[in-house]
Amino acid sequence: MLMARITLQVDGLTHVIDADPDMPLLYALRDDLELSNPHFGCGLAQCGACTVHLDGEPIRSCVTPVSAVEGRQVTTLAGLGTPDNPHPVQAAFVAEEVPQCGYCLNGWIMTSAALLERNPHPSDAEIREALADLKCRCGTHMAILRAVKRAAESI
Ligand code: FES
Ligand code: FES
Repeated sequence: MLMARITLQVDGLTHVIDADPDMPLLYALRDDLELSNPHFGCGLAQCGACTVHLDGEPIRSCVTPVSAVEGRQVTTLAGLGTPDNPHPVQAAFVAEEVPQCGYCLNGWIMTSAALLERNPHPSDAEIREALADLKCRCGTHMAILRAVKRAAESI
């Protein structure tokens, strides 16, 4: 395995790791940086549990080579907001009591935040389209729709 020194910018901090350049970004975030919010779901870009922002756009970190994000800004759920100062989407997910098991929510929140960044007042159809490729096995979809609309109203 070819190892390389890779510099990552994550949530405003700089990290240098030694890794296989083809290793998924998700593994670097979870195993090297010990960030627990991006989750491993399918590993095949099918569920969204691993979503982070790359220069503000949602990407699936399970299929993104770690070397592809050098020199770019990665934001995780922890960089979006904090318990004391949550992002409007995070606050709305709490207010609408969205979580069931919670495993998928990283993806829904990161994708919703990116949607509201480019379209602060989306229609129901636009919300559904933006979130169409995400999976939740607990069936929280209607609560998520309410939460995204609540967040849009609060922005
Ligand atoms: S774990 Fe990345 S999309 Fe499912
Ligand atoms: S809240 Fe359990 S999978 Fe979505």
